[in-house]
Amino acid sequence: MQSLREDVAELMQQNRRITHGYQYTLPSPELYPFQWLWDSCFHAIILTHIDDEAAKAELRAACSQPLVSGMLPHIIYWEEPPVGATPWGRELRGDVINASWGVDGTSAITQPPIMARTLATIHKRSPDLDFVRELYPTLCRHHEYLEQSRTREPNGLVFIVNPDESGEDNSPRFDAPLGLPVEHTASENLAERIRLMQANAACNFDTRTCMTKHFAVVDIGFNVIYLESLGYMREFATLLDRSKDAIRFAARESAVRRKLSAQLSDGLEWYSYDVTNGRYITVDTWNRFLPLYGGLLSDEAADRLVHEVLCDTEQYWTPFPLPTVAKHETAYNTADDAFWRGLVWMAPNWFLYHGLRRYGYVDLAETIRQKSYALIEQSGFREQYHTVTGEGLGAHDFTWGGLVLDME
Ligand code: GLC
Repeated sequence: MQSLREDVAELMQQNRRITHGYQYTLPSPELYPFQWLWDSCFHAIILTHIDDEAAKAELRAACSQPLVSGMLPHIIYWEEPPVGATPWGRELRGDVINASWGVDGTSAITQPPIMARTLATIHKRSPDLDFVRELYPTLCRHHEYLEQSRTREPNGLVFIVNPDESGEDNSPRFDAPLGLPVEHTASENLAERIRLMQANAACNFDTRTCMTKHFAVVDIGFNVIYLESLGYMREFATLLDRSKDAIRFAARESAVRRKLSAQLSDGLEWYSYDVTNGRYITVDTWNRFLPLYGGLLSDEAADRLVHEVLCDTEQYWTPFPLPTVAKHETAYNTADDAFWRGLVWMAPNWFLYHGLRRYGYVDLAETIRQKSYALIEQSGFREQYHTVTGEGLGAHDFTWGGLVLDME
């Protein structure tokens, strides 16, 4: 019998593509035949357990096509998809929908900025200052773009302009901002997101005054990852003797930490903010555990969150945690096409695992690792899993299961 590491190595090899002098990994050849930004970061993290050079190549490719603004796009369309593939990402291709996006070969939106964390993981496992030096300017420009075009005040929290930028495309967090009722179909959801892309295309990238009229959400998940990223950017700046940058990143980091903490009500509830409609989003999703990952809670609040919420079988503790939406929510859904409305995804489990470890919940983290592994043993490498039966759903040969290698 092969080990998990061998199975993951085989999958990564099978999904690997080499083109235009770059090497990257498809999340799933049948459904996702392009390069995705945060997927590639997960891939690079997975690859640090298999092949350091491949990890570097993956991150290099993911950061290779910034837009003129400095923003790193969430999809790079290196090649035409193979005949017969159902390329989900294609609907979001800016230049297919409207040429006025002015982008060729990439999408026109981004995804959570986990690139600096990825670079830090690579550098920690196999120190290579030249590689840090190589990617640093691109990462700096991306962070400048976020600061300049996606915040409402200096050193502020970042808003996203499309649900897909959160990585959780149809999460019920975005129903109200999209003007959708809680009950709706997957295709109604997609139609609304495409309509939003078209409205944004007409804004010609003007995020501050135009795009915010259609959709702008200060999303918790995105901002926790942004906060962590600022910390790594500060460290890289110091490493590369760029003291002015280091001071700037440090100032931003502490302001963002302060502002994020202020969005935590009594330490337990945590709400994203719908800027366009001026209201908090109170839908209970797995995002509420991200303060653990970001180190934003007191020990006491962490304890309550873990024991009163995470381990409660009426809320999040299912036979196979972590459901992406709390069981008591009206939106909670485990149908085959529920996507981010209640099924288990491996990336949230990876964030939860590291959050639990950060606060010393070593045994519980180990349980999450074992249950994640059990899902792969039972159902293979799938996009999502049923939170009660463990049945595999969505795309086949989906790479995120490899993150279990990084739960150690
Ligand atoms: C889906 C996921 C998104 C991911 C993409 C490629 O759209 O929601 O997070 O990046 O697939 O795997």
